[in-house]
Amino acid sequence: MSDIRHFIGLEAFEPATLRYMIERAGALKRNPTVGRNLLAGKTLAMIFETPSTRTRISFDVAMNELGGRSIALSPDELQLGRGETIGDTARVMSRYVDGVLLRTKHHESLLQLVENSEVPIINGLTDRTHPCQLMADILTFEEHCGPIAGRRVAWLGDGNNMAATWIQAAVQFDFSLRLACPKIYAPEVEILDWAHTRGGDVEVTEDVNHAAAGADCIVTDTWISMSDDASAQKVEDLRSYQVDEVVMAKAAHGAIFLHCLPAKRGLEVSTGVMDSDCSRVFDEAENRLHAQKAILLWCLAREV
Ligand code: CP
Ligand code: NVA
Repeated sequence: MSDIRHFIGLEAFEPATLRYMIERAGALKRNPTVGRNLLAGKTLAMIFETPSTRTRISFDVAMNELGGRSIALSPDELQLGRGETIGDTARVMSRYVDGVLLRTKHHESLLQLVENSEVPIINGLTDRTHPCQLMADILTFEEHCGPIAGRRVAWLGDGNNMAATWIQAAVQFDFSLRLACPKIYAPEVEILDWAHTRGGDVEVTEDVNHAAAGADCIVTDTWISMSDDASAQKVEDLRSYQVDEVVMAKAAHGAIFLHCLPAKRGLEVSTGVMDSDCSRVFDEAENRLHAQKAILLWCLAREV
């Protein structure tokens, strides 16, 4: 059994390990200088099959602030774009770098990379999940609202990769999650079954008001993900799932709004909510940096 420390999905972890990373991220945020040199001499390669602002920049800055360096690449800059296999690419990259981050539309590609790599692989978002984002989201919730265990989060909109990762987080961090999605855009049955088998308090409804009522946090994401074909029909189907001021007013007193970004203002979220006092989306984006450091230290420096 390989003991390489991959960061592929929240479901693979002991809750205590994820908790360690959240605490570590908070500590590094409060005192960034303690991280200096912890990854001295280490290199992270990052392959982006699709665009990225937050993931790319936060991992690059995180590596720099920890004393290491990163190289960002697109498939077209690699022989991957000319048909070299992911397996061969993984074997070669393992000889040069200390870790590889991959953003891909195909989760299977990430698994092939893991299978053939001798260094840690980090999931930089796939069509199925986005675990690095969720670590920042938990950090952000807890900064503003206190411990997330026993609290309630409402997800509104598409049952996409972010929704799936929130479901995994609800189990691993022990909070209640109500997802309001149209039936045809509900999260995949397998992930819901996984959550329920693990005793997760996860409910899917079509009723926005039921999901939002009393929630400590309302979260949404774009209706058209990078792995989706743009569809005017899908946008129409989701229109009544917008997080607007009326929906936010149904949440608990002091509830916050989160969104992994990029947001389509006027579609999944109103501009009023995005720019309101309850919106923590820019803290959430900043927290990518701190959360990514904790993930890198767990993977590359084998912390804890
Ligand atoms: N939230 C997120 O992953 O943003 P990017 O697509 O900009 O990396
Ligand atoms: N669900 C979105 C998240 C972007 C960070 C996507 O996959 O495009």
